[in-house]
Amino acid sequence: MISLVKPYIAPSNEMMPAIEEVLYSGYIATGQAVYDFEDVFRNYIGNPLSLSLHSGTDALHIALILAGVKPGDEVISTPMTAEPTNTSIAMVGGKVVWGDINPNNGLLDPKSVRSLITERTKVIMLVHYAGMVCDMDEFNKISAEYNIPIIEDAAHALGSKYNGKMVGCNSPYTIFSLQAIKHLTTVDGGFLSLKNEEEMGRALKLRWFGLDKTRSRLENDITEVGFKYAMNNVNATIGLVQMKHINEVVGRYIENGKFYDKALVGINGVQIVDYNPNTEASYWLYTMKVENRKEFMRAMEVAGIMASPLHHRSDTHSIFNESRRELPNMEEWYSSFVHIPCGWWISEEDRNHIVETIKKGW
Ligand SMILES: Cc1ncc(COP(=O)(O)O)c(C=O)c1O
Repeated sequence: MISLVKPYIAPSNEMMPAIEEVLYSGYIATGQAVYDFEDVFRNYIGNPLSLSLHSGTDALHIALILAGVKPGDEVISTPMTAEPTNTSIAMVGGKVVWGDINPNNGLLDPKSVRSLITERTKVIMLVHYAGMVCDMDEFNKISAEYNIPIIEDAAHALGSKYNGKMVGCNSPYTIFSLQAIKHLTTVDGGFLSLKNEEEMGRALKLRWFGLDKTRSRLENDITEVGFKYAMNNVNATIGLVQMKHINEVVGRYIENGKFYDKALVGINGVQIVDYNPNTEASYWLYTMKVENRKEFMRAMEVAGIMASPLHHRSDTHSIFNESRRELPNMEEWYSSFVHIPCGWWISEEDRNHIVETIKKGW
């Protein structure tokens, strides 16, 4: 079966000696390997104000705190995402306000967001779902007009670009996930990219109990409660080895995605998504709409190909009952979108087989 997701782990002759060395180095907690990994990651993204964390969810939590979301504040967000985007809003006591999506790509619709802004709106949470980038031209305008900060959840979008720059350089807060099946994995891990140096100082404290790591413990005074969200040297060492392959790995996703964008045009029952202006997707999952999705998935399965919508819409969870509202575009999208395998493990032969299978019909 050609799988939809798969962890990329660098070759064992590179990875295992590095892991062995760090494990027996006497320093497995947060230390030099973490700082080295941060330098490499910052260079890749092109944003020096990026800090590593133990997960993308930690990054979301800190971003929401930095953005000042307090109990009762409203955060406009999308149901078309993985659960942590929205459970983290609940973690800080924020009220999720569901924006509707663009039915041609599943990404939050700027017009819907604009219509939902109130005096209590504290943050707009954007998700670059499956590696497609939200309509940043429009969202940047809305953010400036209403003075509401954006958090970009780029858990799926490492290597995606806006205006020729990596996602992570645009908004006050961007989060990345380095969880098992993402473009780049450190087994578990995350990054938060910021735009403001003062906030970087605060974030560094928040990831370590509220302590200032640049001072000795005896000189420290905790003025704000922090968490234990720091990455450790073992995950960071894995990350350092993985980063040697980042261009090649992300490049494979993008090459396969672009191949499908051309090869699937004009096939009966398939609708290619619309990519937003000035954006470049990194195709973490290849996303499209199909007619008769159940039958499509069955035909793919028979041909040894996994196809699935993968994510459960977030707005139907009971914890968000109070936020329920009609989302007509989401209804339509949710019944017809599907993902097909697209990642680094998909060979030319695999992708031709996938396209030929789709062309045969279902
Ligand atoms: C869209 C989205 N946001 C946030 C996260 C949270 O990342 P992590 O699993 O690293 O905490 C994930 C990953 O599971 C995700 O898919």
